[in-house]
Amino acid sequence: MTDTTSTRSALTFEVNRRSDPTPADAIAKVHENPGFGKTFTDHMAVIDWTSDGGWANARVVPYGPFQLEPAAAVLHYAQEIFEGMKAYRHADGSIWTFRPEANAARFANSARRLALPVLEADDFVESLRQLVSVDRAWVPEPGDSGEKSLYLRPFMFASEAFLGVRPADGITYCVIASPAGAYFSGGLKPVTLWLSINYARAGAGGTGAAKCGGNYASSLAGQLEGIEHGCDQVVFLDSSTHTFIEELGGMNLFIVYKDGRIVTPELTGSILEGVTRRSILALAEEVGLRPEERSIPIQEWKDGAESGAIAEIFACGTAAVITPVGELRWEGGSCNHRREGHDDAVALKLRSKLLDIQYGRVEDTHGWLTRLV
Ligand code: COI
Repeated sequence: MTDTTSTRSALTFEVNRRSDPTPADAIAKVHENPGFGKTFTDHMAVIDWTSDGGWANARVVPYGPFQLEPAAAVLHYAQEIFEGMKAYRHADGSIWTFRPEANAARFANSARRLALPVLEADDFVESLRQLVSVDRAWVPEPGDSGEKSLYLRPFMFASEAFLGVRPADGITYCVIASPAGAYFSGGLKPVTLWLSINYARAGAGGTGAAKCGGNYASSLAGQLEGIEHGCDQVVFLDSSTHTFIEELGGMNLFIVYKDGRIVTPELTGSILEGVTRRSILALAEEVGLRPEERSIPIQEWKDGAESGAIAEIFACGTAAVITPVGELRWEGGSCNHRREGHDDAVALKLRSKLLDIQYGRVEDTHGWLTRLV
């Protein structure tokens, strides 16, 4: 636990507050049922970058549209990356975030892969602190579901107006924030997954390990196919052999076996290394499970569901936290590991352990929390 609100960032943020901030009762209304990604707070943090001047003009300004030329490179060549994080309100009113150094490191790796400038970890964390400090009233209490928070979305894109294909000289970094409840509208109801055979999300040597908009755009045709088949999310396989499970459109996946193994696809370079994934691997050991990171053939899922060897399957990510998985469907077939009396005990135990740390209800023995406000 890093219990300090002091900064090591060299940037100074100029703060320009909205003259007509959202009234407390309107914020309370949003907090009643925030859903995911629908309502945005009053402000955003912005920093500009140019190849000559580096990072400059750090500021917190009213949330609102960007002035972007139609020739802005991001609109043509998708030079863009983002992160997903949350701010959690603790019982004493303080506001914390979870493993921001891991997100900062991943953001830097994504930046390198997309030929974008690297924002130093201290500046990245400071941008979150500045925004959350100004918009602290927007951070909800955990609520009945125990998972309401303020979702933070740092992102960076090529704002230079230029149509030649090269890394842009003008870049915008921004953080916006949005009150969040459960990612899936059904809450903890198990999600149904579609097995994508026609589409892959990412390939060897591509951008699969980077958190860039292009990966999510490339998942959408599969997502659409899944929706047409009544599914909530898509399981993508490796692009070269169509054999091994990679990840869902925006989440990692875990399979729990009745013999105590908990297995997740190993990082191949085309899978995003989730911060929640990494945390679950650590927590699983603490509850007596045996974590394994390895390649998982899709046939193993089908066989394990059929034989009853699989106890549980769940998806995880910052937005989804831990969400139980139900049926897997594909063109012409389906399987379901869930049997009469199924209880998702492991998923729910890990979920509570994680949320208890994030909301400060137990001691943060891993040093995963950083205080923002
Ligand atoms: C997250 O879990 O934060 C994600 O980035 C997933 C998705 C909402 C894009």
